Amino acid sequence: MKILVTGGAGFIGSAVIRQLLSSKTAQVVNVDKLTYAATPEALEHWAEAEDYAFEQVDICDAAALHAVFARRRPTAVMHLAAESHVDRSIDNAGDFIQTNVVGSYRLLETATAYWRELESAEKAAFRFHHISTDEVFGALGAEGHFTEETPYQPNSPYSASKASSDHLVRAWNKTYGLPTVTSNCSNNYGLYQFPEKLIPLMIINALKGKALPVYGKGENVRDWLHVEDHARALIAVLTQGRVGETYNVGGDSEERNIDVVGRICDLVDARQPRGDGSSRRDLITFVTDRPGHDLRYAVDSSKIRSELAWRPMESFETGLAKTVDWYLAHEAWWQGILERRYQGERLGLATPKKAG
Ligand code: NAD
Ligand code: TYD
Repeated sequence: MKILVTGGAGFIGSAVIRQLLSSKTAQVVNVDKLTYAATPEALEHWAEAEDYAFEQVDICDAAALHAVFARRRPTAVMHLAAESHVDRSIDNAGDFIQTNVVGSYRLLETATAYWRELESAEKAAFRFHHISTDEVFGALGAEGHFTEETPYQPNSPYSASKASSDHLVRAWNKTYGLPTVTSNCSNNYGLYQFPEKLIPLMIINALKGKALPVYGKGENVRDWLHVEDHARALIAVLTQGRVGETYNVGGDSEERNIDVVGRICDLVDARQPRGDGSSRRDLITFVTDRPGHDLRYAVDSSKIRSELAWRPMESFETGLAKTVDWYLAHEAWWQGILERRYQGERLGLATPKKAG
């Protein structure tokens, strides 16, 4: 296979590319704009590999996309490029509409034009895999799980933009016959996650002795999925998923935010005890809640488990411990981000923009 991966310099895309290249089963063309969130360091080891190519392209740029498809001639697309942070979508929805909606549309148009011209065997084998989120389903109460049949009810600009792209992908399958598959996954964590997201931000702040800002009362629940488990799921969906279908992917690891942060404090304390022997739990600070904060996400993964024989291999306990160890061992990586791109300031309070 020759797989065109969009957003391959990001947290999840780079994990997928590392797995594809290590397994020696595919050639990869990484199409990425390199926004603030990109972590090209995650692919440093593969930069010169024969089976790997990088194209710095914005998916909103149709001409550049056409040129990449014509030159690289992929047999499949895995579409991960997106603006991915809910809090930033509250502050600036425009970038999310551009990349997640308009960019996905341009990519669908380009892929469809390219696919139409393929020979019949290549045409039948071609796949367009769209990577989405469980946040399109909205918020759960104390009970229940999202299934593939749960109605869409997105609540944030981010989830609304992802829901839009899911609908576009569905329409391109139904209307033009493009062979698509879509997956909707829960919150990922693991190596190379940009420190604007809960888990890396809390690990880094705990190491630095800074306040640990928990939104609201910390009672919101997320279903945590290790990024390497997710990457395996994505490769299974691409290679074995049924055309036109959607697959939910969850970690079976529901946890309240306050408990996640408490676990991180204990893991960091065990590895780097504070001089005075006190617990980093003292750093937990409850702050103003996120506007429109979804209470609970939980994913029913029984379809991908039974159809594609996938299941998560990492428990939250083992995965979180490995993640804390990774951030301890890669301080130079996150220090570079803190110095140049993001200092951990609060985002997403919906403060009105200044006129003009
Ligand atoms: P990320 O923010 O770490 O990476 C996104 C990548 O996309 C970056 O490398 C960025 O440079 C690139 N990109 C952004 N805009 C682009 C554009 N216009 N053109 C080309 N490249 C562009 O995101 P992630 O966490 O790796 O998420 C990957 C995908 O998975 C996204 O589609 C996201 O919605 C979805 N997802 C993520 C999670 C999660 O927990 N991280 C959960 C569910 C779904
Ligand atoms: P986040 O990592 O931003 O992912 P998402 O919004 O896509 O679920 O946030 C995970 C949860 O952690 C979410 O309920 C918001 C909460 N949160 C905090 O309490 N404090 C923080 O500083 C951040 C970034 C998130």
